[in-house]
Amino acid sequence: MSKQTNTTEFMAMKPAGYYSSATIGAKHVMDNAAQMVLDAIDAMSLVDDGTIFRATDMGAADGGTSIDLWRRVLGKVRKTVPSRPIEMIYTDLPRNDFSQVFQIVHGLTDTDSYLPEIPNVHVYASGTSFHHPIVPAATLDLGFSATASHYIETVPCNIADHVHMVGAAPAERAAYEHTGAQDWERMLLRRSEELKPGGRLCLFNFGIDSHGRYLGNTGAQNMFDTFAELWGGLANDGTITREEFLNTNFPQCYRTQGQFVAPLEDSESTVFRSGLRLDHVESRVVRCPFEQDFTENHKDPERFARNYIPTLRSWSEPTFANGLSQDRSAEQRSKIIDSFYGRYQQKVAANPDGHAMDYVHIYLVCRKEK
Ligand SMILES: C[S@@+](CC[C@H](N)C(=O)[O-])C[C@H]1O[C@@H](n2cnc3c(N)ncnc32)[C@H](O)[C@@H]1O
Repeated sequence: MSKQTNTTEFMAMKPAGYYSSATIGAKHVMDNAAQMVLDAIDAMSLVDDGTIFRATDMGAADGGTSIDLWRRVLGKVRKTVPSRPIEMIYTDLPRNDFSQVFQIVHGLTDTDSYLPEIPNVHVYASGTSFHHPIVPAATLDLGFSATASHYIETVPCNIADHVHMVGAAPAERAAYEHTGAQDWERMLLRRSEELKPGGRLCLFNFGIDSHGRYLGNTGAQNMFDTFAELWGGLANDGTITREEFLNTNFPQCYRTQGQFVAPLEDSESTVFRSGLRLDHVESRVVRCPFEQDFTENHKDPERFARNYIPTLRSWSEPTFANGLSQDRSAEQRSKIIDSFYGRYQQKVAANPDGHAMDYVHIYLVCRKEK
């Protein structure tokens, strides 16, 4: 049996709370940039007319990393328009652990939820991809997504000598960029249809900044090259087959700021013609908390490696697992995956210099024209 080719069929962050507990850096990204969303709320000049205020967090995973951003944003909405019921929709792919979302938001975990603090908030979930319509047309006040838009719906081709488009040969990379451009336009267009006139879309996207930096590539070691080297090592020593290596491709496209803003600035594009406008764009780097803790505090390479690998694993594991043949038993597959991350951990522990998963984001705020 071959691998799943559609991201919807296999993608999910590690469940049962693993994602948000291991991915504190993604929380920092949102907490640090929450002011952009608060400013967007101000700019909407909301009217307190008793109608529903609808917001969605797209690609929310278990909802733990965004909980404090929403505490501030929904708190502000509550203060600004006290009479309006708030509908909060957590969106992710169907295999996402939505039970964990509800456990977090309803206070059944150690995470401090905003729900008891903010009256008249109604929480729902949707398992519909952000490439498709999530809510009825012209009913959305605020669309939000962090660290998710780099996922493309299907991979356009296998990458022969790497596992990610950032390390692919030029023709392969161009194919991913082409798919990435189509999916980005589609995602924007679907949101533009859903937004109410005057509604806002705030997107914190993984991307490539003007210095060529991207996730895990801000210093001496390139995380995706390390993935490719270690996965290739498993192919070289016969642990996995060459076909399995070829079938392992992150279903992702990292875009530049220029690629992000193109459909919002080209007056001929379908996105522009739909009335979606760019209000703000900027790029930022957020430091890897595990590398920072290692360098500035404990200075213990073994501890760094032990703490660091789970944050990589929380989001990358489904791609490696999906590359493996479905003919293998579940036990065999999980043994291979454990040994792969074990090798990464040993590598970091042996020489930690330059390893870091710094986050590189391109932040966009868009408005639906009135
Ligand atoms: C790295 S996680 C980010 C989670 C959270 N937003 C954060 O910043 O911590 C990316 C999430 O996007 C989801 N995702 C990927 N493609 C998606 C799509 N087409 N529609 C909705 N969610 C998607 C994944 O399942 C995953 O939960």
